[in-house]
Amino acid sequence: MAHLESVQDRITLRNGYGIPCVGFGTWKMPDGEVGLDALHQALADGYRHIDTAAAYDNEATVGKALAVAGIPREGLFVTTKVWNTDRGYDATLKAFEESRKKLHLDYVDLYLVHWPAAQGPEGQWQQTNADTWRALETLYVDGKVHAIGVSNFKPHHLEPLMDKAEILPMVNQIELHPGCNQKATREFCDRNDIVVEAWSPLGSGRVLENQLLIDIAASYGCTTAQLCLRWCLQRRAIPLPKSTDAGRISENARIFWFDITDEDLQRIDGLDPLGQSGLDPDTVDF
Ligand code: A2P
Repeated sequence: MAHLESVQDRITLRNGYGIPCVGFGTWKMPDGEVGLDALHQALADGYRHIDTAAAYDNEATVGKALAVAGIPREGLFVTTKVWNTDRGYDATLKAFEESRKKLHLDYVDLYLVHWPAAQGPEGQWQQTNADTWRALETLYVDGKVHAIGVSNFKPHHLEPLMDKAEILPMVNQIELHPGCNQKATREFCDRNDIVVEAWSPLGSGRVLENQLLIDIAASYGCTTAQLCLRWCLQRRAIPLPKSTDAGRISENARIFWFDITDEDLQRIDGLDPLGQSGLDPDTVDF
């Protein structure tokens, strides 16, 4: 990964498109004033990569914040995702258009399949993912999205999709934080030139009381949250921290002044399972 100095520095995807190395997460960010304030704060702190989804129900707020920010479109990077109820070719194309309109954008930078279809008769879920993926390929070829990828896909979901794909996924966004290091999926993605993004990089706040992380953070003079985000970056993943607090939004962008040593990276890798959401793509019921 190239040397990174700010949240705006970009990592190059396999198709040559650049993605800013830290994104602002918006899951559970309320639609309306609270969300708008958080987004204004994030943009003021330098974030240029905003991660939303149809299911977060806040695309309109993201669109509103970006419209008044006065930042040239090419300086921004916006991701959204197709929800599970809109899987399949036609439904995905329709869902994309609804998201694009809410976002008030001509194009979306990155469009993701939010969760794999993974249950039901063998062969059927793979076909559903292939049909959804074909819609993303169409959007990409038509220039309506500049990059395409998946979210919450394990290697056994990615493999059949990649077998049938004409354009391979460029990104996989997964739950990733200390205590959920996703080694197998990260290694698969590395081997296949798929950039990993980390959702809940702070374990939704659940990992911040861990004594090992607190002690390691103290040795660098950073906060525990900054340590978690830096660990993601040094493990070649793009963290997507979210916060509605001005101080914490800004704290989460300041992770470029220290390096975690290999030894400490490995101590963090070795943490027992901690702070996990419990959402397993193979069994989730949504
Ligand atoms: P808040 O919005 O009050 O800051 P994740 O991105 O892993 O899902 O974590 C998000 C949760 O962690 C939110 O509850 C957020 O609360 C909290 N959070 C975000 N940044 C920090 C930080 N720097 N320190 C402590 N808690 C944080």
